[in-house]
Amino acid sequence: MKRIFVPVLIPVLAVLSILLTSACKHDPLADGTPIPPDTAGNGNNNSSGCSKDTTYFVQQVLPIFQSSCAMSGCHNCTTHKKGLILDSYNGILSTGGINVNNPTSSSVYRAMTNSGDENMPPYPAAPMTSTQLALISKWIGQGAKDNSCLESGCDTTNVKYTTHIKPLIQNACQGCHSGASPGGGIELSTYAGIKAIADNGKFFGSISHLSGFSAMPKNGNPLTDCQINMVRIWIRLGATQN
Ligand code: HEC
Repeated sequence: MKRIFVPVLIPVLAVLSILLTSACKHDPLADGTPIPPDTAGNGNNNSSGCSKDTTYFVQQVLPIFQSSCAMSGCHNCTTHKKGLILDSYNGILSTGGINVNNPTSSSVYRAMTNSGDENMPPYPAAPMTSTQLALISKWIGQGAKDNSCLESGCDTTNVKYTTHIKPLIQNACQGCHSGASPGGGIELSTYAGIKAIADNGKFFGSISHLSGFSAMPKNGNPLTDCQINMVRIWIRLGATQN
């Protein structure tokens, strides 16, 4: 009996194991790239001229306007409701709704806090988060400058959901991907929603502008290489809620 079974069993097992491994071979990074070497804790170059106390328009404020105000149908170049185009520094400042150094008397800020005549963004978009409001208020309070600071180093030694991925999504994606009708039906205000696009490859594909994916943030500035690397590392390490 055994003599007959073994030769039959070996090819059967071989086929089974090929089937099983290919079924599990799904790669959420789509491009098959390995984790960049600096996650090992060596190339940690955290030296940067950016001040932790300063709010930078290009990196911190503009993405919020682009994701919460300048989407199509609202305040972008083609729609510009009430003549407001909120996708650039000049567009935002020329509304007259930013009272430099004084957020509470700035009508653009008041609309976002729902304490002005208008409540923005209107339903079904999700209201601004307290983190976003704090950033915009601080930026106006610091003179509403057209300032920019790119981290000169990219510290990817300890990438975590709570400290890196979640804030990044809140800043650059959540305006469009939350509320009653999130973009593409994709809800990114919860870990479950973010984990789903991490696992199905769409998170990395869309922010890296890989072919076959819609480029994200839609109509906004692309994420920096550093941010994309952080997402890549977080996904490669299992996209956990750490
Ligand atoms: C200005 C609005 C807007 C912003 C900002 C935005 N998205 Fe989207 N997103 C959309 C819309 C609308 C869709 C539906 C598909 C389309 O229209 O391209 C979409 C689709 C997607 C998809 C599906 C892509 C695909 O190919 O199936 C993913 C994933 C995604 N967004 C992730 C993100 C991430 C991550 C960010 C932030 C880095 C982001 N989005 C920022 C509006 C936005």
